[in-house]
Amino acid sequence: MVPLKVAALIFYILSSFLTTSKSVDEFSYNGFRSANLSLDGMAKIAPNGLLKLNNATILEKGHAFFPDPIEFKNSTNASASSFSAYFVFAMVSGYQEMGGQGIIFVLSPSKNFERANPALYFGLFNKTNSGNSSNHIFGVELDTIKNVEVDDIDDNHVGIDINGLKSVSSKTSGYWDNPDLFRNLKLNSGHPMQLWVEYDGIEKQISVTLAPLHNSKPNRTLLQISYDLSSVLKPTMFVGFSSATGPIQIATHYVLGWSFKINGMAQPLDLSRLPKLPRIGPKKISKVLTVYVPVITTVSVSLAIWGVVCYVNRRRKFAEVLEEWERDYSPQRFKFKDLYKATKGFKDKEILGRGGFGKVYKGVMPRSKVEIAVKRVSHESRQGMREFVAEIASMGRLRHRNLVPLLGYCRRKGELLLVYEYMSNGSLDKFLHNQPKVTLNWDQRFRVIKGVASGLLYLHEEWEQVVIHRDIKASNVLLDGELNGRLGDFGLARLYDHGSDHQTTHVVGTLGYLAPEQNRTGKATTSTDVYAFGAFLLEVACGRRPIDPKAAPHDLILVDQVFSYWNQGDIFQAVDPNLGNNYVIKEMEVVLKLGLLCSHSDPKFRPSMRQVMLYLEGALAPPELPSSGLKFEQHDEGCDDIPLWSYPSSSSAQTVFTQTSSVTNCLSGGR
Ligand SMILES: Nc1ncnc2c1ncn2[C@@H]1O[C@H](COP(=O)(O)OP(=O)(O)O)[C@@H](O)[C@H]1O
Ligand SMILES: *[C@@H]1O[C@H](CO)[C@@H](O)[C@H](O)[C@H]1NC(C)=O
Ligand SMILES: *[C@@H]1O[C@H](CO)[C@@H](O)[C@H](O)[C@H]1NC(C)=O
Ligand SMILES: *[C@@H]1O[C@H](CO)[C@@H](O)[C@H](O)[C@H]1NC(C)=O
Ligand SMILES: *[C@@H]1O[C@H](CO)[C@@H](O)[C@H](O)[C@H]1NC(C)=O
Ligand SMILES: *[C@@H]1O[C@H](CO)[C@@H](O)[C@H](O)[C@H]1NC(C)=O
Ligand SMILES: *[C@@H]1O[C@H](CO)[C@@H](O)[C@H](O)[C@H]1NC(C)=O
Ligand SMILES: *[C@@H]1O[C@H](CO)[C@@H](O)[C@H](O)[C@H]1NC(C)=O
Repeated sequence: MVPLKVAALIFYILSSFLTTSKSVDEFSYNGFRSANLSLDGMAKIAPNGLLKLNNATILEKGHAFFPDPIEFKNSTNASASSFSAYFVFAMVSGYQEMGGQGIIFVLSPSKNFERANPALYFGLFNKTNSGNSSNHIFGVELDTIKNVEVDDIDDNHVGIDINGLKSVSSKTSGYWDNPDLFRNLKLNSGHPMQLWVEYDGIEKQISVTLAPLHNSKPNRTLLQISYDLSSVLKPTMFVGFSSATGPIQIATHYVLGWSFKINGMAQPLDLSRLPKLPRIGPKKISKVLTVYVPVITTVSVSLAIWGVVCYVNRRRKFAEVLEEWERDYSPQRFKFKDLYKATKGFKDKEILGRGGFGKVYKGVMPRSKVEIAVKRVSHESRQGMREFVAEIASMGRLRHRNLVPLLGYCRRKGELLLVYEYMSNGSLDKFLHNQPKVTLNWDQRFRVIKGVASGLLYLHEEWEQVVIHRDIKASNVLLDGELNGRLGDFGLARLYDHGSDHQTTHVVGTLGYLAPEQNRTGKATTSTDVYAFGAFLLEVACGRRPIDPKAAPHDLILVDQVFSYWNQGDIFQAVDPNLGNNYVIKEMEVVLKLGLLCSHSDPKFRPSMRQVMLYLEGALAPPELPSSGLKFEQHDEGCDDIPLWSYPSSSSAQTVFTQTSSVTNCLSGGR
């Protein structure tokens, strides 16, 4: 009897304590001018009451939380209460640069995100804790980047996130205008939108609804899932927003108004009282000058003439070619003026290298300070330009840690400028050839090889459409700050395919990496890419170019040499002497044998990139090579007279055009 009474007493004390310390369960903000939110990182409240979650800093975080914790359940084991949140947000792209992430509406047990990372972790998680149920975080993401690492469906979606960024459920942004008509919405269009996030604690259902600013709440939700949040939510949680920027800043994220309620509908906002978004675009010129005395008028007239002259000059200097059909691609379009400033006027000092397609300049974007590499490709023909630009725009969305991100393009008369993220360690060939000052050890080389393989597998099999790289070689593999290998230049060779008429197909690629059947037919396929990848494997393991003009005539062709070592029973003789004995035998064996297998002259025998990946990861034993029947043929009979020894050796600046023309010449009978 007695223990029961004590228990009842404790229960009474506890419950009265709980009811007296009742926490806030509802709030509403029409603008945040007088709000006392807890802000950190980039988050700021503008004087007009706009909550601005980020600024132009790259790789940075920003959080804004309601200052006090809110009670979601009354004991650890109780089930979570219903709640509803409603807010108006906008993502405004100031200039046409890509990157940035998005906004997450979040319920979290803590307001401290010091250990979280920006970019794809949204300022909420890091690599070690993303996905861990001990996070107790619920979020709804408004995401404008497609990150394959977290299985994002596209670059414009809304998702429900529980304890990590692999969304439990997600949908392309939009709303049901009526129950049968879905309309897409572009999150970073700059237009304010409304979002409702609701949880029904009895039905255990989460629903998310999006709509343009002045629409009433759609009857049909965008996302609805059955999920019991009781184990996710702690008894008290903080409610707020998180935003983070990626390697490049794209848009500023704003919240204009916000309301929230436990066990009930969040209050509607008074849309007419929400703060205004900042205007983007030029300001109107004031009329002051026109009211002044004639003297000043004449001065201003001559000033104006001078201005017009300057303006015209400037216009000519910064002229671009912009056609009607390109409007669709405006997000990928850079202003020539910005690129001109970024590269200090395309100064020779800023040249990073010269490639087959043109010079590459280093640049720093004027406002965001992002480092870029700009490739200037001269291109007279307008033919094929449209398809090509469509392709660049689609490639701009390719995101993989082993691809050099293509940020966008600009077009001028007779030239095309491609803008890439800057890779601080330059191209791989510099670490391999011509007595490099720094070479890479085997671990680093093997990591680069696996990285490039995974990037190529992504292009071949994991992206929306099959992308053929067409020009794999060590000088197209760039190393970022952490020495990750990243494939560059994808699809560029295509530009030269498009422009040609069908009779004489140009073979684009680099001698030594060109599959024999590609010489014959001019057709690039995934297996011609695999062939080039094989040449690349041998190049990295042996530290020699696929065709080495300085070698003795019988060692001229690397594949043949490695093959003959293998035939003699000691394939390791082929290993780069710079490595000495410091390599993992098993890995080296896989790389060398795989290099041979990929170089098979019959495409049927070459592995796919998926198989290559399995070999490299050790999931498959090193490939067995047939001692007979493995045939390596560098080029067709008709091409025997290609002057291989005149192949420029000293620089990485060999031009694809010379190679192209020699191969094409040979194909068309030495025209
Ligand atoms: N994104 C980049 N970051 C840093 N350096 C780059 C970048 N892109 C190209 N480069 C440099 O410019 C050189 C020429 O590039 P590219 O035109 O791609 O060469 P190629 O046509 O020979 O493959 C490269 O060897 C590299 O040193
Ligand atoms: C962005 O916000 C951070 C943190 O408040 C601040 O240190 C930085 O100066 C801001 N940058 C810009 C460009 O406003
Ligand atoms: C603002 O919030 C902080 C943190 O919760 C609190 O200490 C402070 O008293 C609040 N100020 C006002 C004016 O409400
Ligand atoms: C705790 O919450 C549940 C539902 O949210 C409610 O049924 C119950 O009465 C509450 N208990 C106390 C002690 O307040
Ligand atoms: C909550 O549940 C766990 C296991 O289900 C139990 O061990 C614990 O005692 C419960 N706590 C309370 C406060 O009831
Ligand atoms: C990741 O975040 C968690 C929680 O904030 C922290 O404990 C952990 O140390 C972080 N890990 C890293 C690698 O920063
Ligand atoms: C989740 O996090 C907890 C606490 O940080 C840790 O002990 C546990 O190992 C993590 N679980 C996984 C699967 O990483
Ligand atoms: C939603 O449904 C109600 C009644 O069913 C109807 O009056 C209203 O017009 C509908 N709203 C929309 C946006 O379809």
